[in-house]
Amino acid sequence: MDKEKSIIIGCDHAAFELKEKLKAYLFNKGFKVEDAGTFNEESVSYVDYGKKVAKAVSDNTYEKGILLCGSGLGMSMVANRFPKVRAALCSDLFSAKMSRLHNDANILVLGGRIIGDILAFELVQIFLDTPFEGGRHLDRITSIDN
Ligand code: RB5
Repeated sequence: MDKEKSIIIGCDHAAFELKEKLKAYLFNKGFKVEDAGTFNEESVSYVDYGKKVAKAVSDNTYEKGILLCGSGLGMSMVANRFPKVRAALCSDLFSAKMSRLHNDANILVLGGRIIGDILAFELVQIFLDTPFEGGRHLDRITSIDN
């Protein structure tokens, strides 16, 4: 599997529609997308889907993931409990950029009830394109887990 061109995505019912749009966006950009669910708008717990994606990033099956729920808050809380996961809830472009440059975020979290489709696409693109700056930031992120 080409890890750089593979990504795992998960959502709850509140962001199912946006997840489907993001999947199409990512496919068009040449990504292989692993869909961890949910697969329709029936009410589910964000915790189950957050755990699936966070585990896959935590154990390095995937380098990066995307999680979506209504506000993004629940998914962030779940994902950031997993070792080596640095999940960033973003609704503006500057935060998305900084989450990669300084924090080496490996999961982007979006609130499907907060942001529109175009902003979501732009946030994802920044998340994918922006490298980690390393240097002094490497010591900082490493010490999160130690
Ligand atoms: C679902 O109603 C909602 O609680 C969930 O999508 C998320 O926003 C939780 O943090």
